[in-house]
Amino acid sequence: MEKDHHSNPQNQKASANVLILAAGLGTRMKSRKAKVLHELAGRPLIAHVSRAAQTIEPERIYVVVGHQAAEVEAAVRNELGDRSVEFVIQTEQRGTGDAVMAARDLLENADATILILSGDVPLIRPETLLKFVTQHETSGAACSILSVKLENPTGYGRIVRDESDSFMRIIEEKDATRQEREIREINTGFYCFDSAKLFRALGLVEPLNEQGEYYLTDVPKILLSEGESIEVFAHSNARELSGINTRAELAEFENLLRRRTIRKLMLEGGVTFIDPSHAYISDATQIDRDCVIHPDVIIEGNTIIGEGCIIRSGTRITNSRIGNNVVIKDHCVIVDSQIDSDCSVGPFAHLRMNAHLEERATVGNFVELKKSRLGRGSKSMHLTYLGDATVGQNTNIGAGTITCNYDGKQKHKTLIEDDVKIGSDTMLVAPVKVGSGSVTAAGAVVIEDVPPDTLVAGVPAVIKRKLKSRTAE
Ligand code: UD1
Ligand code: CA
Repeated sequence: MEKDHHSNPQNQKASANVLILAAGLGTRMKSRKAKVLHELAGRPLIAHVSRAAQTIEPERIYVVVGHQAAEVEAAVRNELGDRSVEFVIQTEQRGTGDAVMAARDLLENADATILILSGDVPLIRPETLLKFVTQHETSGAACSILSVKLENPTGYGRIVRDESDSFMRIIEEKDATRQEREIREINTGFYCFDSAKLFRALGLVEPLNEQGEYYLTDVPKILLSEGESIEVFAHSNARELSGINTRAELAEFENLLRRRTIRKLMLEGGVTFIDPSHAYISDATQIDRDCVIHPDVIIEGNTIIGEGCIIRSGTRITNSRIGNNVVIKDHCVIVDSQIDSDCSVGPFAHLRMNAHLEERATVGNFVELKKSRLGRGSKSMHLTYLGDATVGQNTNIGAGTITCNYDGKQKHKTLIEDDVKIGSDTMLVAPVKVGSGSVTAAGAVVIEDVPPDTLVAGVPAVIKRKLKSRTAE
């Protein structure tokens, strides 16, 4: 499914360098973790911003990192792959001006415009970035600022204008007079600069303010005093340009994105949600038409679900692939696994680490599959652990069967061929193989390979008799 916020409809490229500020801790998150690493819709904030930046195909992307620099770098690389991104270290976080200063050597002599954005503005759309860069370049200004009008501007830097409505300066909330705090037009923290002029003015910024920080927001007024022109472009969608500063805001955004994803799945994907307000679906998930998603279902990561599936309450599916007409009953956990068409799973089943159910296989209550494959039409209905096991077609695994795959040091494999009947409570002590057409009696402890078409029973299980003789093929 197309993720429209990642596409670049005009297919335009921006002739700009992008500088993303992401070195701060984000004190208001009250976290040990850097703010830009907190996740929205399953991806770190910085991943959302990097993706938007990458979509406009800029000259190059630079990211200023500081707090948990290695983790932030990894998050960006993970999102953008090998595409070229450069990281700049800001050792001490002395303000947004200082953060930009850290990139001076790399960017001072660049011809292209510098587009500056913050790592904590995850809803920014590529279209908006492109439009902003274009407006800036058309205007010929030394600096352009993206502003927005807010009902409640608390916490933001305000755009101060003179009587003729021309830009004068940005004043931070903490440094503002009561009158200035009344201003509802705020600085969104998105700027375009002429590189040389930016760094020239930045050299003049002093930390003479309430926070003792080097403010990037002082640069426009310095440029103005040097006779340069400054443009302010007002944007209408406040939410798109809002930074996340607290966990409450993060939860609000999460809710918003979730509602968007689900609405799109309903309207464009033809998916039924019994209660859309109680479904949790990552935006990378694909679900085909006529699926029915019951309340309290969580679908995470890159999950792909085919047509006509029914997913019942309390189930979590992460990074898995599910075919058509699959029924997943209540309270299942399915992680990194594959379920082919017409299977039934649960209630209370656990599939993990490349569990694979082939077509028409059935897994019932309290059955766990780890690194195991259950062949076409095979069944494991109750209270079973299949670990490192390969099960053929049309085989039945009786209740309480366990693959004893771990000898305390190593994991071993179990192979169960086609048309086998594993009796209830069978222990399969791996490595072990049960040949096709064989039967294990209830309670068997199988410690050696069972030939085809053979009944075994007992503890440990010994051969009792031949079931039938194989006709040579
Ligand atoms: C900043 C602006 C404010 C604007 C607001 C919009 C300044 C002084 N103020 O305030 O006018 O309304 O953004 O959201 O710029 N960062 C660093 N290194 C630092 C400090 C910050 O990399 O030393 C990064 C942060 O990680 C963050 C971004 O810069 O991604 C913005 O910093 P933040 O502290 O959130 O600025 P605000 O106080 O929100
Ligand atoms: Ca901020």
